Amino acid sequence: MTVLIILGTLVVLVVIYDVTQKRHAILRNFPIIGHFRYLLETIGPELRQYIVTSNDEERPFSRDQRRWIYASAKKENNYFGFGSDNEMELTSNYVIIKHSVMGVREKSGHAEENPDFPVPCAKVMGGPRGRAKAFRPASVVNISGMSFGSLSGAAVEAMNRGCAIAGCLQNTGEGGISPYHGHGGELIWRIGTGYFGARSPKGAFSLERFLEAVEANPVRAIEIKLSQGAKPGLGGLLPGAKVTSQIAAIRGVPVGKDVRSPSGHSEFSTPDEMLDFVEMLAEATGLPIGIKSAVGQHRFWEELANLMSDGRRGVDFITIDGGEGGTGAAPLSFSDHVAFPFKMAFGRVYGIFAETGVHERVVFIGSGKLGFPASGLMAFALGCDMINVGREAMMAVGCIQAQRCHTGHCPTGVATQNRWLMRGLDPTSKAARLANYVVTLRKELLQLSRACGVIHPGLLSSDHIEILNDHFGSSSVAELFGYRPEWGFPSPEDRRDIERIMADVP
Ligand SMILES: Cc1cc2nc3c(=O)[nH]c(=O)nc-3n(C[C@H](O)[C@H](O)[C@H](O)COP(=O)(O)O)c2cc1C
Ligand code: SF4
Repeated sequence: MTVLIILGTLVVLVVIYDVTQKRHAILRNFPIIGHFRYLLETIGPELRQYIVTSNDEERPFSRDQRRWIYASAKKENNYFGFGSDNEMELTSNYVIIKHSVMGVREKSGHAEENPDFPVPCAKVMGGPRGRAKAFRPASVVNISGMSFGSLSGAAVEAMNRGCAIAGCLQNTGEGGISPYHGHGGELIWRIGTGYFGARSPKGAFSLERFLEAVEANPVRAIEIKLSQGAKPGLGGLLPGAKVTSQIAAIRGVPVGKDVRSPSGHSEFSTPDEMLDFVEMLAEATGLPIGIKSAVGQHRFWEELANLMSDGRRGVDFITIDGGEGGTGAAPLSFSDHVAFPFKMAFGRVYGIFAETGVHERVVFIGSGKLGFPASGLMAFALGCDMINVGREAMMAVGCIQAQRCHTGHCPTGVATQNRWLMRGLDPTSKAARLANYVVTLRKELLQLSRACGVIHPGLLSSDHIEILNDHFGSSSVAELFGYRPEWGFPSPEDRRDIERIMADVP
């Protein structure tokens, strides 16, 4: 009997500890049983010696990738011991980063001595088009668009606070700007086909509401969404049951009624009309204006680059999202088969802009599993100026890849509106984790760049990377993607500026 009482008391104490502590969302949401997850995580490597999968299995993100994010976010040891467990020579499309034998000589005052590892963008966003509020983004790593509604308020807030700490930008996603976006982090405001937060009662774009929102929030740039990699060409539906009074107020829609995002914009239907819309928004706000899209047919990109070639109109930035990109919910056929994966998608669009001679005027942003040092570096070698991280940022604030985002029952409180589950996610401690992850990624991008002999990832060329096939052969990125030697870099003036900035960073 005494033993039972002691055991019962212990269980009650553990439950109280679990639901009141703020470090682990899983324990807050699932007292007692949550411990099994941490136990399995701890003894997983030993167990896997005898059963189940390797460190590189599991998708979308392998165990190694997730471990790297969790350890980086917690500022724990993110090294891996004993050497690579990858089969380099037996794996096709294996990325090899070509280091320079001499590397880069250390300079005093270099960014690597600053604990924030600042790596600003090598281009000025909006600079070439002379936008009144052109600026140089302070971080080459930023948070990808994920709407409040798809993510919980607590997750959005954790990311916003984390962005403020790490000095990076948070993209709002097309769900509008919520109170959770107001915790110090600066924003890229996403305008989707629903024009949420900037729409008339009938669902058209409202310039008046748009300007009010820009005025009231720390918006640094506007991104018009054309599509996203996980579900290009598909409109969206937010069921009435999810349209709470808070979501209705933020999006500018009626409470409790289904909200449809059409698959196309009502303000434009051609690249020509889109550029007029872009210039109108830029004129009204002074902000840089960009687009986000996945890549399928080429025609749109060829027309856009041609229309920009006379220098009278243009987008300030282009975000290319790979078909492997994430989503809150999408039909499997769209996620699996519509749109090219990132490297092919980006290489094609960059090539079209470079052939037309307008690539140096655009800030190129990549997304699609790029939130790791090697895949991020590859994106820079292809000509990206910045990378956006979506699911990697979710993992930094606690996501465990349970892949239940579409059900509303996310166990970690990241992708749910359930109050109990959301309560598990403490925005303050998770903000620090998001910031640690972003800073660590910047640090390792910088270390890899320096190993290649350059002081900023934007200065990498397509020749810094080779791709192995599984027959002891390899091709350079330039050969595989048809890049010319001068492609993939910022303009000579931008190069000079970023070299000076990197050398001077205190
Ligand atoms: C839960 C979730 C919600 C998302 N919401 C949006 C959205 O509102 N708008 C959008 O354009 N992309 C959205 N995305 C896509 C991401 O912004 C990003 O483009 C994609 O996940 C690729 O980046 P990643 O591989 O780093 O996650 C969402 C992704 C996830 C996982
Ligand atoms: S449902 Fe799973 S995959 Fe989606 S955010 Fe939550 S923990 Fe992550």
